[in-house]
Amino acid sequence: MAEIIRRTPMNLILIGFMATGKSTVGRVLARGLGFELVDTDAIIARRAGKPITGIFEDLGEEGFRGIESEVLQGLLSRERLVISTGGGIVTREENIKDLRSLGMVIWLNASVDAIIARVADNDERPLLQTDDPRKSVEELLEQRLDMYKEAADERIDIDNLSCDELAYGIAESARLWFAGNN
Ligand code: S3P
Repeated sequence: MAEIIRRTPMNLILIGFMATGKSTVGRVLARGLGFELVDTDAIIARRAGKPITGIFEDLGEEGFRGIESEVLQGLLSRERLVISTGGGIVTREENIKDLRSLGMVIWLNASVDAIIARVADNDERPLLQTDDPRKSVEELLEQRLDMYKEAADERIDIDNLSCDELAYGIAESARLWFAGNN
């Protein structure tokens, strides 16, 4: 993770594992900063004309990842966005490059226990529809930790933070970041 402020466009990008609150916090942040909220999963579903589960069923994960990369590339000239991303966006190296060239990248990091508690009773995440969701979370997290680390400018451990505390902390970091970018 970078210790210094990089020169970037004025966008805030939220990355992190499934169910770490990227969309919820993104909404609060966008309102507070006066930025537009962009949710990559929502754009993907709109573009494909079906929900994420349907895209995985019809096109597989690779098909989904292809659309995800295109959607990300389509944002590259935009500014004043809070971009909430899908948890696996970092699994393509080209996406990490695009995320970092888009703006300040914040990684919402949660423990396995917190993730499991948040995804219980939710069947909208195809990669966790397995016999042992805890094992799936552990394995995917293990595979992805270095990718999140590579993409992120700042990591926030969210387990003990409310949505408001999280949004407040990120907004403060963003103000410093964007002030340093002028
Ligand atoms: C995925 C995360 C999901 C969604 C898709 C794949 C992943 O988004 O993009 O189900 O690979 O981690 P959320 O992180 O918003 O759940």
